[in-house]
Amino acid sequence: MNDQSEKMEKIVSLCKRRGFVFQGSDIYGGLKGTWDLGPLGVALNNNIKREWWKMFVDGREDMYGLDAAILMNAKVWEASGHVGGFVDPLIEDTVTGERYRADHFLKEHGINADGFSLEQIDTVIVEKEFKSPKGNPLSKARTFNMMCESRIGAVAGPEGQVYLRPETAQGIFVNFKNVVDTMSPKLPFGIAQIGKAFRNEIAPREFLFRVREFEQMEIEYFVKESEWKGEFEKLRQDIKAWHAHLGLSEENLREYEVPENDLAHYSKRTIDVEYNYPGKGFDELAGFAYRTDHDLKAHMEASGVSLEYIEPDGSRFVPHVLEPSFGVGRAFTAVLCEAYQEDEMNGEVRTYLKLPAHLAPYRVAVSPLLKNKPELVTKAREVFVMLKKEFGNVAWDDNSNVGKRYRRQDEIGTPYCVTIDFDTLGENPALLDTVTVRQRDTGEQERVSLQQLVEFLQ
Ligand code: GAP
Repeated sequence: MNDQSEKMEKIVSLCKRRGFVFQGSDIYGGLKGTWDLGPLGVALNNNIKREWWKMFVDGREDMYGLDAAILMNAKVWEASGHVGGFVDPLIEDTVTGERYRADHFLKEHGINADGFSLEQIDTVIVEKEFKSPKGNPLSKARTFNMMCESRIGAVAGPEGQVYLRPETAQGIFVNFKNVVDTMSPKLPFGIAQIGKAFRNEIAPREFLFRVREFEQMEIEYFVKESEWKGEFEKLRQDIKAWHAHLGLSEENLREYEVPENDLAHYSKRTIDVEYNYPGKGFDELAGFAYRTDHDLKAHMEASGVSLEYIEPDGSRFVPHVLEPSFGVGRAFTAVLCEAYQEDEMNGEVRTYLKLPAHLAPYRVAVSPLLKNKPELVTKAREVFVMLKKEFGNVAWDDNSNVGKRYRRQDEIGTPYCVTIDFDTLGENPALLDTVTVRQRDTGEQERVSLQQLVEFLQ
């Protein structure tokens, strides 16, 4: 195993050990492609989503929020093309029946099969005499629909058939008219949504990277066709600013222009933003597509409802759409990979998460120097309550000695530890009502007065 794969393993293990991420349905042996967020994971995840909403919705005048239902009329997915065309190429081990995604299988054998037809996949497998990882012959490639199906209502029959949405985007398109009618937005404008999406991935793998249930943060940005190029460049810069806000370094990010023969059926131009995941290399973190007027037109035709935009001068047309689409789990993983650090402090190797303060599960941890001294505990509780009122995400930590507390907080990325000691109580009168604040990244400690503490931690 190389250093980078080892780093990823350490991150996954930290996630489980410290309550960030657990295997879904863990005590029943798990459910492939599902993960549960623990107390620290949900805090980090919520921070990512909150910052995104702040930047892309609250921080702008041209964006409107939405939260559409996960269950939608099956006709939505027929019109969008997902029922017929949301497929991946599948090959099977003819002996064990194990299934593999053909393009991923070929990639692992050094062949880029992006845009290959099923026949091209079969030809390569035959020519190169590829076998399954178990050494058995492989089946011919066929398409596999990734929609997760379910049923609603008490009546058996086709009317109960529903699909769990594979993208949040369609919830936005089918609400385009509702938003226009109620908010009277002026072009260009966007509708943003954060929510769950479901895909029956053939081979879920690589921690949160490819899963069957995940969250997306998506924007459909409606523009005049003639203006799409200029707006595309502006949003591209906004996407860059977002990834910088997550603390991702430029050297670990790159853009990948998706070649024409590999574009999704709805797209005329797509740029994937890739992150350099340890042990995996550069792979898709987020997508940015020019979807033309494909979706609105498809829904207009299928529903019979006009989805045209009417200009003040009375002219009407179907707007075109730019779509920045972010996977929350992939951002979550990238943030952890970027933050994971090992160094030496006081002659010991320490692990810490150098998370930006606006993303860290806890902003600060508060401790009494000794937990068996009631006067220290009382004062520390007062400080804890004061900080909790201010920041909310504040930890109380009075386990073991102060050095071990620092290590524990370092490992979960808490930027500051505040310790209340005898000087806080006035043992040294000059230090009355001051506390020790210890910085995660440097281990440096300084005395801060209680009066200035909130401002200092801001
Ligand atoms: N509405 C466009 C759309 O859904 P996509 O490229 O299929 O486009 C967008 O997905 C983002 O959703 C991806 O960039 C990725 O971050 C995330 N994503 C897609 N499939 C995923 C999966 N199976 N597991 C985790 N994240 C996924």
